[in-house]
Amino acid sequence: MRFPGGMRTASLMAPEAGMTLFRAQAASRHLVRWCLCLVTVATAACRSENKEGARQDVPPAAAQAATPEAPAELHGVGGVEGVDPAYDQSRQPSRFVAALGLSPGQRIADVGAGLGYFTLRLSDAVGPTGRVVATDINDEALKQLRQRVFGRKNVEVRKVTPDTPGLEPGTYDVILLAEVDHFLPDRVAFLESLRPALTPNGRIAVTHLRAMRPPLVAAAQAAGYAVVSEFNDLPVHYLLFLQPVRSGDTSSTAPR
Ligand SMILES: C[S@@+](CC[C@H](N)C(=O)[O-])C[C@H]1O[C@@H](n2cnc3c(N)ncnc32)[C@H](O)[C@@H]1O
Repeated sequence: MRFPGGMRTASLMAPEAGMTLFRAQAASRHLVRWCLCLVTVATAACRSENKEGARQDVPPAAAQAATPEAPAELHGVGGVEGVDPAYDQSRQPSRFVAALGLSPGQRIADVGAGLGYFTLRLSDAVGPTGRVVATDINDEALKQLRQRVFGRKNVEVRKVTPDTPGLEPGTYDVILLAEVDHFLPDRVAFLESLRPALTPNGRIAVTHLRAMRPPLVAAAQAAGYAVVSEFNDLPVHYLLFLQPVRSGDTSSTAPR
């Protein structure tokens, strides 16, 4: 008999050696399947986006960035609302931003904003007295995002480095991490570095595909945060809110 994908036959080996080889090959196949699964999830997370609710103020350059012909430097930077109806249907930007519970005048950080899938809606939600700081590490995404928010006085687009959030201390009511945590070099260290930027009652909002929730929650716990609330009504994404665990606080992170 030939082992699947094997180089040798069982008849040439002792039974124990044959079983060991078989188990090793099975483990190897399992690992390959797991890696393929991870690549599929990451690809879905980074795909470009869509058309429902198309905004009149999206310049052609930004809209083109979300097409399959987008240049390599724009891969993984998310998309623009109004380009792909199926994508908007999956992300539901209007309901998503409503679920953030923002108020006029609040200060929001959109970390890893990409092309600004949520940035314009965040800007609308906090109004002229509020402020949105949209960060990214990708120069081309930052350039296109600056074009998209041109004229919006309550939005600042800011270049950062991968392990430094670049946010002022004590400033942000909400720090949004939308489909970005899988890019972070060290989730725990990054979450820890966000804490000083929060206002006393500030929250970190994290959203991603549901399959990406466990590593984020584990990192949040390790970084000293608790899941304080969660919005479970999006088609394929989770949305949860983190706050620092204060000394004496016995509440635990919500299991799922
Ligand atoms: C998949 S896109 C998400 C864009 C948008 N937030 C969304 O939800 O559609 C991830 C973005 O995070 C950016 N990014 C990756 N690591 C980052 C970091 N350490 N700090 C800030 N942005 C980062 C990438 O350049 C990319 O534009």
